Amino acid sequence: MEHHLLCASSSLLLLFLFSSIPITSQFPFSGSKQAYDHSNVTCIESEWHALLQLKHRLEDKSNRLSSWIREGCCSWEGISCHKTTGSVLKLDLRNVVPLYSDDYCTNCFGGQLSPSLVNLTNLQYLDLSSNDFSGIQVPAFLGLLKNLRYLNLSSARFDGEIPHHLGNLSHLRYLDLAWNSLSIKDLGWVAGLSSLEGLVLSKLNLTAAQDGLQSINMLPSLTTLDLNACELFIHPHLSHVNFTSLAFLDLSLNKFNNYRAPPWLRNLTGLHDLRLGSNSLFDSIHGLSLTYLDLSWNNLQGSIPSEIGQLINLTYLDLSHNNVHGSIPREIGQLSKLTNLLLTRNSLNGTIPTNLGQLTKLQAFDVRSNSLTGVLSEDHFAKLRELKYLDLTGNSLALNVSSSWVPPFQLQEIWMQSIIVGPRFPAWLRTQNELEVLDMRNASISGAIPSWFLSKNKSFPLGLYLSHNFLAGHIPQLQRVLSVLALNDNRFTGTIPEDLCKSENLSELDLSNNLLSGRVPLCLGNLRGLQYLILANNSLSGQIPSSLGNLWGLSYLHLNGNKFVGKLPASMQHLSNLLIFDVGDNGLKDTIPAWIGEKLSELRFLRFQSNNFHGPISDTLCQLSHLQVLNLAHNNLSGFIPRCFNNITAMMVSRVNGAYGIEVQQSLQDIKGGREVEYDVWSLLLVRSVSLSANNLVGEIPDEIMELVQLQFLNLSQNHLTGRIPKKIGNLKQLEALDLSMNALFGAIPESLSDLYSLNSLNLSHNKLSGPIPSGNQLQTLTDPSIYEGNSGLCGKPLPNSCWEHKLPTKNGPIDNDEGHSESDWSWFYAGIGPGFAAGLSGVLGILLFKKSWRYAYFKFIESACDKIWVKSTRPRRNFR
Ligand SMILES: *[C@@H]1O[C@H](CO)[C@@H](O)[C@H](O)[C@H]1NC(C)=O
Ligand SMILES: *[C@@H]1O[C@H](CO)[C@@H](O)[C@H](O)[C@H]1NC(C)=O
Ligand SMILES: *[C@@H]1O[C@H](CO)[C@@H](O)[C@H](O)[C@H]1NC(C)=O
Ligand SMILES: *[C@@H]1O[C@H](CO)[C@@H](O)[C@H](O)[C@H]1NC(C)=O
Ligand SMILES: *[C@@H]1O[C@H](CO)[C@@H](O)[C@H](O)[C@H]1NC(C)=O
Ligand SMILES: *[C@@H]1O[C@H](CO)[C@@H](O)[C@H](O)[C@H]1NC(C)=O
Ligand SMILES: *[C@@H]1O[C@H](CO)[C@@H](O)[C@H](O)[C@H]1NC(C)=O
Ligand SMILES: *[C@@H]1O[C@H](CO)[C@@H](O)[C@H](O)[C@H]1NC(C)=O
Ligand SMILES: *[C@@H]1O[C@H](CO)[C@@H](O)[C@H](O)[C@H]1NC(C)=O
Ligand SMILES: *[C@@H]1O[C@H](CO)[C@@H](O)[C@H](O)[C@H]1NC(C)=O
Repeated sequence: MEHHLLCASSSLLLLFLFSSIPITSQFPFSGSKQAYDHSNVTCIESEWHALLQLKHRLEDKSNRLSSWIREGCCSWEGISCHKTTGSVLKLDLRNVVPLYSDDYCTNCFGGQLSPSLVNLTNLQYLDLSSNDFSGIQVPAFLGLLKNLRYLNLSSARFDGEIPHHLGNLSHLRYLDLAWNSLSIKDLGWVAGLSSLEGLVLSKLNLTAAQDGLQSINMLPSLTTLDLNACELFIHPHLSHVNFTSLAFLDLSLNKFNNYRAPPWLRNLTGLHDLRLGSNSLFDSIHGLSLTYLDLSWNNLQGSIPSEIGQLINLTYLDLSHNNVHGSIPREIGQLSKLTNLLLTRNSLNGTIPTNLGQLTKLQAFDVRSNSLTGVLSEDHFAKLRELKYLDLTGNSLALNVSSSWVPPFQLQEIWMQSIIVGPRFPAWLRTQNELEVLDMRNASISGAIPSWFLSKNKSFPLGLYLSHNFLAGHIPQLQRVLSVLALNDNRFTGTIPEDLCKSENLSELDLSNNLLSGRVPLCLGNLRGLQYLILANNSLSGQIPSSLGNLWGLSYLHLNGNKFVGKLPASMQHLSNLLIFDVGDNGLKDTIPAWIGEKLSELRFLRFQSNNFHGPISDTLCQLSHLQVLNLAHNNLSGFIPRCFNNITAMMVSRVNGAYGIEVQQSLQDIKGGREVEYDVWSLLLVRSVSLSANNLVGEIPDEIMELVQLQFLNLSQNHLTGRIPKKIGNLKQLEALDLSMNALFGAIPESLSDLYSLNSLNLSHNKLSGPIPSGNQLQTLTDPSIYEGNSGLCGKPLPNSCWEHKLPTKNGPIDNDEGHSESDWSWFYAGIGPGFAAGLSGVLGILLFKKSWRYAYFKFIESACDKIWVKSTRPRRNFR
C-alpha cells in the first residue's frame, strides 16, 4: 500500500516554538530502582573512596549528598549496590525538578566529574541528567565503565566533542545525550554499542554527521531512536535496513531537503510510533502496524487515501498544519482504536463522513480551519462515547440535531465558532457536565440563554464564548464560576449582574456591543484576576467606579461608547499593566490627569476621543514611551501641543518591543506566505497614530512631532494652530494620512511633502496657506482639489488657478478667513487610526494550535482590540506586507 502525500517546498519557521518542548518517551530501564536497592550490604572500600572523591569535585549547592558521609555507601542517596557483593551498580544523580519550574536548577549538580568514577567497576546505571555542568566535556573515561547498561547525560550542559570512547560500551542498552550543546563530527563510534536498544540524540547538532544513520544502522537491537531536532537535512541511503526492530522513531523538526521521507521507512515493519512532524517533507507512509503517526507541521499535499482504513491499529493520527486537500475518507470509520484525529489547518473539503460516529474510542476530533461543508447530524456522533475535545471552528458546517438529543459524550471543550448551531440555544448542552470551554461565537444563536444553563456550579470554571450571536434578554443568573465570559456583540439588555463578581478567577469579561444599561457594579473591582475588561458600546451610565482601580492585572480596558460621566477615578493610576485604555465616546469631564503619563507606563493605546476633557495636554504624556496610538480628538483641550512628543520612542522605532507582542510575533512566522487576511491582523502591532483634532489647541505645530518617523496617521485638524507647516514634514516617511485642515496655518506648503511616498490621504483645506502646491511623486495621485480648498493663496494643480495666473495682482486681497466652515465629513479619521485596522478578522481566530492560553490571548486581542473597539472604518482595508 502506498499513501502518496507529496510535499513541495520547505519551511520550518516554527522550529523555535517547538525546540523548547522536552522529549518524552518511555524507557523501561529508567526508574527501575528495585532491581538494585539493597541498602544494607557493606560497601566496597575502594568504591567508597571513589564516591567520596566524586563528591569532592561535584558542586552540590543544595547539599543533596549530605548522606554521603557515613560508612556503608550502599545506603547513600542515589546509590544502589549488588545484594551480595555490595559493589555499586547504580548511581542516579538526576535532578528531578521539572524543567520549567522556577527553581529548576536549585538542586542541580555542577563542577567536575572525578576520574575515580572508573573505580566503580561494576556500575551498570549512570544518570547525570538535568544538571548543570556548565559546559565541561563529557569525560572520555566513561568509556571505561564496561558494564554500563544505562547512561543518561541529557540536559546537563555538557559541551564540546563527544568522546568516541563511549563506543567501547558494548553492553550499553540505553544512551541519552539529548539537549546538550555537544558537537558531533562523526557517529562511527555508535556502531560499537552492539547491545543498544534506545538512542536519544534529540536537539544535538548533527550537521556534520549527516551519515550518522549508517552507524546507527549497525545496531540490530535498536527499538527506540529519537533524532528530534538534530539538524538532519539528508537521509542517507541505507542499502539494507538492520534496525528492523525499531518501534519508535522520531525524526521531527529536521530539515530534510529532498522533500521525501527516507525510502527505508517502509522496511521498518515493526514501527508503532512514527513522528515526522515539522519537516519539510513527505511522500509516503508505510507500515500497517503503526499505532501513532505524527506528520504535523509539514508540507504534505495530496489527499488522505482511502487505504488509511487499513491502519487498523492506529490510535493517534496528526496531520495538522499541512496542505492536505480532498475529503475525509469514509474509511476513517474503520480505525476503531483511534483516540486522536487531528486534521487542523489543512484544505480538506467536502462533508465529514457519518462513519466518524463509529469511532468509539475517539477522544479528540479537531478539524479547525479547513473548508469542510455540510450538516452534522446525531449520526456523526452516534458512538463517540469517549469524545472530550471537539473543534469544528473555521469550516462551513451546520449542526442539526433534535432538541431532545442526548449525546453519548461528555465534552470538556467545544470549539464551534462560526458553525451554524442556532437558531435556538442548543438544548443538548444541558447534558454536558464536564464543560471547561464552550466556544459558540458567531453560531447564529438567537433568543435568550435558558435559565438552566450556568445555573449549577462546578468545581472548575468555564470559559464561555458566545459573542456575535443574536442572544437577547437579560444576562442570566450565574451560579457557575467562570474564567472567561464573552457575550459581546449580542442584544443583551438590562444591567451587568452582580453574580459575576462570584467568579473570582475571571480573567476576561467582554460584554461590549450590547444594549446594557445602568451602572457598572462596584464589586467588579473584586475580580483581581481580570486582564480584559471590555464593556464598550453599551448604554452604561454613572461614574466609572473607583473600585476598578483594584484590578491591577488589567491589560485591556475598554469603556468607550457608553454614557459615563464625571472624572476618571484617581485609583486608576494603579492600573500599571494597562496596554490599552479606551474611554472614548463618553461624557467624561476632566483634565488629563498627570498620573496617566506618570503611572501607566506600559500603555500602547490611549483613546479619550469625544469626551469633555479640557485644559492643556500635559507634558507627562510624553513619558509613555511605548505609546503607539494617542487619540485625544474631539474634546476641549486647549493650550499648545507639547514639544516633548519626541520622547515617545515607540513612534520612532519600527519594532515595538514589549511582552505583549511576543506570541503574536511568533505566530507571524507561521503566517508568512499564509492567508492574507490573517497576515493583516498583525499590522495591529505596527500602527502609529496621533490625533488631536477638534480641540482648541493653539500655537505652532512643534518640530518635535516631525521626529516621530514611524507615524502613519497624523490628524491635527480643527484647532487654532498657526505658523507654518514644518519643513521637516518630509521626515514622516511612513505617513499615510495627514490632516491639518481647519486651522490657521500660513505660508507655503513645504516641498518635502512630496517625499511622503505612502501618503494616500491628505487634507490641508481651510487654512491660510499660500504659494504653489508642490508636485511630484505621491502628491500627483492626490488630485481632489477639495483637499486644498479654502486657502485662497494656493495655486497650481489640482486647483484650477495656475500659479502664473496667481502671481498677477488680484483685487480680492490675500486670503480667506477660516471661520464658519461647515463641518465636512471627518469620519474617515474618526477613530484616529484609520485603515489597516479594519481588517476582516473573522477568519483568523482559528489559526492557533499552540498553548491554549496563547489561543485565548490571541482571540482576545483581535476581538477586543480591533474588531469592534477601534474602528468601523469605512475605508478599504490595506494589506500590510
Ligand atoms: C537486607 O535487609 C532485608 C530486609 O530489609 C533482608 O531481607 C536481607 O536479608 C538483608 N540482607 C543482608 C545482606 O543483610
Ligand atoms: C582507584 O582505586 C585505586 C585503589 O583502590 C587507587 O589507587 C586509584 O587511584 C583509584 N583510581 C582513581 C582514578 O581514583
Ligand atoms: C534521561 O533523563 C531524562 C530526565 O532527566 C528523561 O526525561 C529521559 O527519559 C531519560 N532518558 C532515558 C533514555 O531514560
Ligand atoms: C576505547 O575507545 C577508544 C576510542 O574509540 C579506543 O582508542 C580505545 O582503544 C578503546 N579502548 C578499549 C579498551 O577498547
Ligand atoms: C550546527 O553545527 C554546524 C557546524 O557543524 C554549524 O555551522 C551550525 O551553525 C550549527 N547549527 C546550530 C543550530 O547551532
Ligand atoms: C548490519 O549490521 C551488521 C552488524 O550488526 C553489519 O555487519 C552490517 O554491515 C550492517 N549492514 C549495513 C547495511 O549497515
Ligand atoms: C526492504 O525490503 C525489501 C524486501 O522486503 C528489500 O528488497 C529491500 O532491499 C529492503 N530495503 C532496505 C533499504 O532494507
Ligand atoms: C494490530 O495489533 C494486533 C495486536 O497487537 C496485532 O496482532 C496485529 O498484527 C496488528 N495489525 C497490524 C495490521 O499491524
Ligand atoms: C474539493 O477540492 C478539490 C480541489 O482540491 C475539488 O476538485 C473538489 O471538487 C472539491 N470537492 C468538493 C466536494 O467541494
Ligand atoms: C524627555 O526625555 C528626556 C531625556 O530622555 C528627559 O530629560 C525629559 O524629562 C523628558 N521629557 C518629558 C516631558 O518627559
